Amino acid sequence: MDKCLVSPSMLAADFANVQRDVEMLNNSEADYIHIDIMDGVFVPNISFGFPVTEAIAKHAKKPLDFHLMIQDADAYLEHCKNSGAAIVTVHYEACKHLHRTISAIQELGMKAGVALNPHTPVEVLREIIADIDLVLVMSVNPGFGGQKFIPHTFSKVERVAEMAKEVNPSLLIEVDGGVSSENARELVQKGANMLVAGSFVFKSNDPVETISTLKNV
Ligand code: DX5
Ligand code: ZN
Repeated sequence: MDKCLVSPSMLAADFANVQRDVEMLNNSEADYIHIDIMDGVFVPNISFGFPVTEAIAKHAKKPLDFHLMIQDADAYLEHCKNSGAAIVTVHYEACKHLHRTISAIQELGMKAGVALNPHTPVEVLREIIADIDLVLVMSVNPGFGGQKFIPHTFSKVERVAEMAKEVNPSLLIEVDGGVSSENARELVQKGANMLVAGSFVFKSNDPVETISTLKNV
């Protein structure tokens, strides 16, 4: 099976040792570093802000994959750019003028992604899927690390892959939440090509080895 991209989530890192954890990721097979930004409004939690992401960017040798779980993404796209974001993903549920937001991300020279909450049907992407670089299928309700994977995600991933086949064959299909060796293989079989993992990587005894396991599911 083709190798999928792996984007370990810094949300599960030790914030008292950010540099150490970023260097661990630099020395691993990780393709990206996933950065979860929460505002306490769109999701019932606050993670960290741009002073922290700038500190991460200073040490990171892998491209940064920003996941904005915030109500007003438009106001922070430049901040993402200044923090070295390669990808910026916004939530379908939070963006009134999604096409405008996607265009703004791309005009800043970054890849643009759209995230779907577990309850949001894949079909809402129909008119925008050709214009975006990535779809992030949430496999938990956003806001917290360490939650249980929702199995319905498998069929959603399959439908995103089906939809992308004709109109956007190079689309990145990313899955985020509760990803582990228990579901990674099936996710890739259904069409996922990019996996986010927080707890599964950082709570393991050997995170570098765990990342390698995910790369080779
Ligand atoms: C959840 C975040 C995830 C989170 C995943 O809202 O979007 O990226 O860090 O953590 P795990 O892999 O522990 O579910
Ligand atoms: Zn995330």
